[in-house]
Amino acid sequence: MSASTALSPSEFTNDNLAVMFTAEQIQTRISELGAEIARDYAGRDPLLLGVLKGAFIFLSDLMRVIDLRLGVEFMAISSYGASTRSSGEVKIVKDLDVPIEGRDILIVEDIVDTGLTLSYLMANLRSRGASSVKLAALLNKQERRIRDVKIDYLGFTIPDAFVVGYGLDFAERYRNLPYIGVVRDPHAES
Ligand code: IMP
Ligand code: MG
Repeated sequence: MSASTALSPSEFTNDNLAVMFTAEQIQTRISELGAEIARDYAGRDPLLLGVLKGAFIFLSDLMRVIDLRLGVEFMAISSYGASTRSSGEVKIVKDLDVPIEGRDILIVEDIVDTGLTLSYLMANLRSRGASSVKLAALLNKQERRIRDVKIDYLGFTIPDAFVVGYGLDFAERYRNLPYIGVVRDPHAES
């Protein structure tokens, strides 16, 4: 293989990535959130609703520290192009295949950025007759908010930086990092 096409042997330790939260910090925070959720939903049977793809790792760790009877479902949502993005229009790419009338829905999302996706999704789920719709988000970029979104269970508030890892991607890369990091130069090849 020529040097120009060789891939770095390590994806996890990459000079273009700076660690923001270690795997240990993430797990500690998730354990706290899980205990809080178990307390709040005691005696109920919540439906955890993961937003694909970014939330799948957070969801899998979070549900294993919620000591309750619960169900899990997934939805996939994509925002339309940049031109319609400001209107808050989003598209449901994969919908639920179970009714949610009367259910206590806990949306599990990787990150709330502008809030457009979540404000749409929460209104949509309420309109289907869910008894309650709450939100657990691992990360919050409060500075970027356009639509107000109430985050009931939050991992960490972060500054306005593009983060990857632990499910979050940059052009589909880096979802497998065990930590959350910042891409120093999005245009750099590494
Ligand atoms: P919102 O509708 O602007 O709140 O969009 C949230 C979605 O944008 C998240 O679910 C992510 O998929 C994506 N996103 C926003 N910020 C980041 C980031 O820093 N890294 C990776 N994905 C992000
Ligand atoms: Mg997402």
